[in-house]
Amino acid sequence: MKKFAPVGFLLLLITFCHGRFLNSLHTEASHWRKLPCPNPEDILPCTCTADQDNRMDLDCSLVASEEELERVFSATFPFSTFRNFTLVDNAYLKTLTDQSLGIASFTGVYIMNSVLEGVESNALLNSFGTAQVINMQNNLLSSFPFETLSSFSSLVELDLSDNKLAFPALGSESLLILDLSNNLVDSVSATAFSDTPEISEINLGGNQISHIPTGTFAGHHNLYHVNLESNALTYLPEGAIQLTSSSSGTVILRSNQIADVAVNCITDVSGGNVDVSNNSLKALKEDVFRPILDEEAALDIKNNPLTCGCDIAWLIRDSSLLKLVAEGAACFDGELLADLDPGMFDDLGCP
Ligand SMILES: *[C@@H]1O[C@H](CO)[C@@H](O)[C@H](O)[C@H]1NC(C)=O
Ligand SMILES: *[C@@H]1O[C@H](CO)[C@@H](O)[C@H](O)[C@H]1NC(C)=O
Repeated sequence: MKKFAPVGFLLLLITFCHGRFLNSLHTEASHWRKLPCPNPEDILPCTCTADQDNRMDLDCSLVASEEELERVFSATFPFSTFRNFTLVDNAYLKTLTDQSLGIASFTGVYIMNSVLEGVESNALLNSFGTAQVINMQNNLLSSFPFETLSSFSSLVELDLSDNKLAFPALGSESLLILDLSNNLVDSVSATAFSDTPEISEINLGGNQISHIPTGTFAGHHNLYHVNLESNALTYLPEGAIQLTSSSSGTVILRSNQIADVAVNCITDVSGGNVDVSNNSLKALKEDVFRPILDEEAALDIKNNPLTCGCDIAWLIRDSSLLKLVAEGAACFDGELLADLDPGMFDDLGCP
């Protein structure tokens, strides 16, 4: 009898809940289920949606202040483990405070196209173990708690493009993708990526970087994508960009003022792409560019004031290499490389 009572109670409870469940199916068939989400009224103007696998996404794009967001997260949350937090096109939230997100944890944090100026150190404390993507692109961020980056043990992608950030100290064992395009980065040190061993994609386009020290983008076993377009580079030293030869890489350097490049400045791009279009190159040195083309990487060199003297003979004489050069490559006077007569270089005594 002693054992029977709890079982009987359990049966009663199951019957009761089942009845309620069927009942709710009948009366609320057109409404979405509440649980696992909080009460919709409690979290207005945020909305919570859960999919069939009970993954909850929270959208707080309509919050009008820091206080309102904190109030939302002080509501009763039956479950605090969310998939995405989203806040887009918001004109009010300037600071993500330590209290903003309460005890909730997220896999993806997307605060985009808004007016966010700062993120407090512990604002994402509860997502240290869960966050895989942090995307705060196109805000007004002049600071970010980079000192906590190493605590985000699952973080794969950090997109802080289109903000007002300088280059930070970076440390992450998990980070694969970093986007700091269109910020206020004016320099990167040779050790900038020393503490991001898994980094595979680096986007730094649209900054004011004028110099890449030897070794900056080298020695990372996953690195296959480096974008430095629209910076202020004038020269590439030896060993500046060394990708991993295991996958076809991409090196984008278009729209800088690169006038000279050192031997072995870009290596291991086999089968990939190198874009140095719209720069200030007058010569195409064989010892720099032949190794790249020999690895069957496509080379875009259009919009450079190429002199097209003997320095380019090696390329014009080898049609298999010339095929790898993107259409539109021309000399300073507009003549297409593809139209140049290899015989001319022989007639004029080029070695
Ligand atoms: C999370 O939200 C972002 C941005 O809205 C979206 O691109 C992404 O697919 C979402 N992730 C999941 C798993 O739904
Ligand atoms: C070429 O680069 C300059 C900056 O060096 C930029 O202002 C211009 O828009 C670029 N042109 C093209 C066609 O990309």
